Amino acid sequence: MTADPAPRPLRTFGRRRGHRLRQTRSTLVETLLPVLRLPPVGLIDLDALFPAPKRAVWLEIGFGGGEHLATQAAAHPDVGFIGCEVYIDGVGSLLRHIDRLGLENVRVHDGDAREVLARLPDASLQRVYLLFPDPWPKARHHKRRFISPSALDMLSRVLTDGGLLIFASDHADYAHWTLENLTGRPDFQCLAGTPDDWRRPADWVESRYEAKARTAGARCFYVQFQRQERTPGL
Ligand SMILES: C[S@@+](CC[C@H](N)C(=O)[O-])C[C@H]1O[C@@H](n2cnc3c(N)ncnc32)[C@H](O)[C@@H]1O
Repeated sequence: MTADPAPRPLRTFGRRRGHRLRQTRSTLVETLLPVLRLPPVGLIDLDALFPAPKRAVWLEIGFGGGEHLATQAAAHPDVGFIGCEVYIDGVGSLLRHIDRLGLENVRVHDGDAREVLARLPDASLQRVYLLFPDPWPKARHHKRRFISPSALDMLSRVLTDGGLLIFASDHADYAHWTLENLTGRPDFQCLAGTPDDWRRPADWVESRYEAKARTAGARCFYVQFQRQERTPGL
């Protein structure tokens, strides 16, 4: 008798593809994506992932069109970047930025970020960006939000001591949800005080979704959580 397969986690995303991929993106998905894709199975060896050694590895979950990721990667060539996105048009858009900028420090997972979190070594990431995640505003859909106790356990495992979870949203309820989920956890410390402190940091790189939200006059919330030092032996 075989054991029941583990239940699939709930989807935290909407559609995975649009109508038809534009020609340039489609070509890059066929040619460049296979080169930049993470190895398909097993523990991810971060030392072997990039052509040159990196001082740190940063992960972006749900990079959308990849504008933030590409700008950060161009500004920090000594850092390795892993980008995760399920929407293939967004992956194609990131590939176009990588190609145009000649970036050599980005690797891509065209799938659910939780698959990557499960395969990363302990204490291996210095930063994780979760920018404007799908807010799933209806109460019956809250369970689809990326921030959940199980996702935070995964993030806690892969972040280094002192590593940062960097969150932004234009959805006040999701911002409060995030704070509630992290408050009381001994492994994370919120670096902002009251919601009035949830302002955009000075050296911030704007994402595409954020630019749209700000143009539409939405209030955006920015907050960072720091992975606390691990207690030896626990
Ligand atoms: C509202 S968009 C924001 C995109 C981008 N971060 C920005 O600020 O422009 C949220 C993105 O997260 C992606 N996403 C949601 N859940 C995901 C998951 N579990 N793994 C990877 N990507 C995910 C969606 O496909 C979508 O492109």
